Amino acid sequence: MGTAAIEVRGLWKIFGPKADRIIGSPDAELDSAALRAKTGCTAAVRDVSFEVRPGEVFVVMGLSGSGKSTLVRCLTRLIEPTGGDVAIGGEDVRGMSATQLRELRRHRVSMVFQHFGLLPHRRVLDNVAYGLEIQGVAKAVRHEKARAILSLVGLEGHEDSYPDQLSGGMQQRVGLARALAVDPEVLLFDEPFSALDPLIRRDMQAEVVRLHREVGKTMVFITHDLSEALKLGERIAIMRNGSIVQVGTPEELVGAPADDYVADFVRDVPKSHVLSLRWISRQPDADEPLDGPELPADTVIHDAIPAAMASARPIRVVADGELVGVVDRVDLLGAVRLGEGIGAQAGEALAGTRSSSASASASAPSAEEA
Ligand SMILES: Nc1ncnc2c1ncn2[C@@H]1O[C@H](COP(=O)(O)OP(=O)(O)O)[C@@H](O)[C@H]1O
Ligand SMILES: [Mg+2]
Repeated sequence: MGTAAIEVRGLWKIFGPKADRIIGSPDAELDSAALRAKTGCTAAVRDVSFEVRPGEVFVVMGLSGSGKSTLVRCLTRLIEPTGGDVAIGGEDVRGMSATQLRELRRHRVSMVFQHFGLLPHRRVLDNVAYGLEIQGVAKAVRHEKARAILSLVGLEGHEDSYPDQLSGGMQQRVGLARALAVDPEVLLFDEPFSALDPLIRRDMQAEVVRLHREVGKTMVFITHDLSEALKLGERIAIMRNGSIVQVGTPEELVGAPADDYVADFVRDVPKSHVLSLRWISRQPDADEPLDGPELPADTVIHDAIPAAMASARPIRVVADGELVGVVDRVDLLGAVRLGEGIGAQAGEALAGTRSSSASASASAPSAEEA
């Protein structure tokens, strides 16, 4: 297999009697309820394929019961897949011996769970050093490493506390630190923040973004929360009934949902906060001025509004020093109107400024029409 950090091909997990006979049989086509009625089996993961690039944050999002936990546990065979292939760092996980699997889980892949799974009778420091202890790393070395990681996650000074002396958010920081301490290639997160209060949860999401920036690890992050997915994911896979229905960037999911299911999920997302100028830019018309303000192509629409309001000329959208296209006020207005909430407000603000500059672009409709 190629250079992907994680590569999954045709992965299945079916729970129940004679599960392995179902793949490739007509029963595999049955929906969950029919399959259960006929065979007593549950297809938790159905023919799933995706790749995670090195250093990427890949989010798997879906409602409860859609198969997310089963999928992520199949990656290191904490749950044994029924069929298909998994490779981590180019190595075939399904072909690994018990010893190789143990190596994989101890050294190369760490997991962070919703229930932090901390050892209650161990100090924070020893919880964080636990993975290194299992590896047989000498005490002084592992403590030094654990201290460094604790300060990385903002828990300096709590080394000697016990888990139950810490708040939920702090305990999850310990969970994060423990996962990072072994310096794994890949971090797997299974809804790690779902049990936390919303404000703490937001802090922790920011913490993951920051840690990712600092340590650059490949991350697979499971969540049922769309806003969390959009905040963290470079790409997001949407799961439904064991299958992946779409994999894409936040922009692709919001701007071009693959089906009604995804469309329903993203309907309330303010488009102007997700879609970038690249998404809506177009080739300039022959008579359009090309001396307007310049903005990077990855600027989200919302952030481009001040520039659009300040200049009557179309925004020049650039990437790597090259002109990608242009976006004028009418384009922006059309795009924000796609969304609701904040989009509508921004749309009104734009429409309000439009009339004063209607002469700037002869082809644009007036504010009254828009
Ligand atoms: N050990 C098991 N035995 C039978 N069914 C299971 C088992 N684990 C999970 N399932 C079923 O598989 C489906 C997917 O579960 P899960 O992967 O936990 O979903 P999620 O993490 O998205 O909530 C559910 O229908 C669940 O009931
Ligand atoms: Mg789950």
